[in-house]
Amino acid sequence: MRIIKPSDIPASEITPREIYLNRRQFMAGVAALAIAPAVSASSEPSHGQKFMDIKTGPYSTNDKQTPFDSVTTYNNFYEFGTGKDDPAKRAHTLKPRPWTVSVEGEVKRPKVFDIDDLIRFAPLEERIYRLRCVEGWSMVIPWVGFPLTELIKQVEPTGNAKFVEFVSLLDPKQMPYQRSSVLDWPYIEGLRIDEANNPLTLLAVGLYGEVLPNQNGAPIRLITPWKYGFKSAKSIVKIRFVEKPPITSWMRAAPNEYGFFSNVNPEVAHPRWSQSRERRIGEFFKRDTLMFNGYAEQVAKLYRGMDLQKYF
Ligand code: MTE
Repeated sequence: MRIIKPSDIPASEITPREIYLNRRQFMAGVAALAIAPAVSASSEPSHGQKFMDIKTGPYSTNDKQTPFDSVTTYNNFYEFGTGKDDPAKRAHTLKPRPWTVSVEGEVKRPKVFDIDDLIRFAPLEERIYRLRCVEGWSMVIPWVGFPLTELIKQVEPTGNAKFVEFVSLLDPKQMPYQRSSVLDWPYIEGLRIDEANNPLTLLAVGLYGEVLPNQNGAPIRLITPWKYGFKSAKSIVKIRFVEKPPITSWMRAAPNEYGFFSNVNPEVAHPRWSQSRERRIGEFFKRDTLMFNGYAEQVAKLYRGMDLQKYF
């Protein structure tokens, strides 16, 4: 994203390869630390309540899952700071209960849902998805959630509902970094209605079988695995059906760098870096990034005929 600290740049990118590999042989431990996510030994990530009766959902990848400790300590959640370890250290000020999600706008049956009703709303599924961050790293995360389309059916969008806007909580008391102007708050994201209805799109309420940790977007967040991670708005309080494409927080911050679609596309570089490869957190070598993050079979049809260089 816009702010990159030296600690976010893999050592492999700043040190000549031979020296790096050599050093790795002699200093295996140190090199491992250099490429590992910022998992602080002193702050053991805590475990949350386990969900009961989660069914196995479709579309899961067999890729090796990123360990719980990395998933919950290497985060982007700018409402708590821009450092990868800020959310794990600071998101304890977020209160995920009581919590409501208002579903409104171009719908026949607008409704304010209590989070506990939403969690019971549709059978919870586990889906192991790849998450590719626009910064060039990726993870594999077993989410717990339900398809967004189930919620959409219930509120009955009108014919004017062409897009869906997702609004995260605005409350600087709970989210202290909202006092900074690093982004325009609240955090806003959006999908086209067919993307929102795609069976891959999840509303996640947990991961690794447990209630979503605060730093991962408690109590409810969006997951669109074929798009860069920043599309998946955390701690959602409002889902609004609208006629025009929402102006998302990242489009507002840097319109030439972040488009509305934000599909993972190894052929369309970010203006300041390539998107053709990625580093899976916990792995040493980079791997090729796949078109639509490997979900082309499910979503390529949504973009048929569109110029993806233009609609990035
Ligand atoms: N949602 C909110 N409200 N605020 C944020 O800063 N960061 C996004 C996305 N959702 C963000 C957000 C980015 S850049 C990424 S990569 C993912 O959350 C990271 O999700 P994770 O920390 O659970 O891996």
